[in-house]
Amino acid sequence: MRLLVTGAHGLLGRSLLQTDWGADIDCIGCGRRAEPVGDVPCHAIDLTDVDAVVELWRQLRPDRVIHTAAVTNVDQCETEPELARRVNHEIVAHVVAASLDVGAGIAHLSTDYVFDGQQGPYSEQDATRPLSIYGQTKLESEALLLDPGVDGLVVRTLWLYGHLRSVRPNLVTWPLAALVRGKPMRIVSDQWGNPTYVHDLARALVELSRQGVSGLFHMGGTTFLSREQLVRQVAEHFRLDASHMETMTTANAGQAAPRPLRSGLRTDTIEAQLGWSPASLVEGLERMAVETAFRQDFADLSMPS
Ligand SMILES: NC(=O)c1ccc[n+]([C@@H]2O[C@H](COP(=O)([O-])OP(=O)(O)OC[C@H]3O[C@@H](n4cnc5c(N)ncnc54)[C@H](OP(=O)(O)O)[C@@H]3O)[C@@H](O)[C@H]2O)c1
Repeated sequence: MRLLVTGAHGLLGRSLLQTDWGADIDCIGCGRRAEPVGDVPCHAIDLTDVDAVVELWRQLRPDRVIHTAAVTNVDQCETEPELARRVNHEIVAHVVAASLDVGAGIAHLSTDYVFDGQQGPYSEQDATRPLSIYGQTKLESEALLLDPGVDGLVVRTLWLYGHLRSVRPNLVTWPLAALVRGKPMRIVSDQWGNPTYVHDLARALVELSRQGVSGLFHMGGTTFLSREQLVRQVAEHFRLDASHMETMTTANAGQAAPRPLRSGLRTDTIEAQLGWSPASLVEGLERMAVETAFRQDFADLSMPS
């Protein structure tokens, strides 16, 4: 199966492209620059250019596309709604059209921000009510995939973490770096979710692609907790002092985009489909800590035995 991954240089894109999935999967990436990801070649493309997208898809002729490219900064989406709509909705339409043109299946990533965060964790059947432009544009993009004429796959996920080279800090690596350096930190105490180890999400996407599955699935880790509890668990796991951490409520955080507070995604459906369970937070941290890049960057950490 020839697998084309958009957003090649993002957290999930890199995880998908850096993993050896076996001889039956031939990965190719595309991103805003042509820098390869490990040994995997990457094509430079502006996905807002529909003609360029159709042309590249005709040249590469993928069997399956995993569309990870997005504007993922939710506050930026709130302050730049046109950019959010262009990237998180219009580009998805281009990717869907080009994939249909070459007969490729498509998997698309969405988010728990499609919910209002009053009653999480949520199942696939729960009613959506996005609070932010990011959530709204993502919800609109889902409809493009779930159209019966498209036969696409939508995987909603949340709170991705992992330690990969050249990606921006995430909700585990950012506080971890601050804890290691004893830097001041303010963490919200009233946002709840289930953090997702990025390699589990990548594995789920590849396996669903192998199965040729379509429809809507939720994917997250198996530990449900607040952001504050997450940082405390990270500190405890790596035996770091978190006494300098300050907490605040979301209302006092000064963020441009409203957040779903009591969020989280239930994973019963995807677990039944895949036959395995995603990592708990502790399992994810254990797996992250033995990766080469992590051991190089956090060499001074005392590792849990
Ligand atoms: N991270 C999370 O916690 C989270 C939670 C829920 C859902 N998701 C969804 O999961 C997917 C993957 O997330 P991620 O964390 O891997 O995202 P990420 O690290 O922010 O990567 C997104 C990628 O999209 C690319 N991109 C942005 N605008 C583009 C454009 N106009 N044309 C082409 N590429 C563009 C970026 O390119 P550059 O590298 O050039 O900037 C980047 O490589 C996204 O759809 C996201 O909405 C993520």
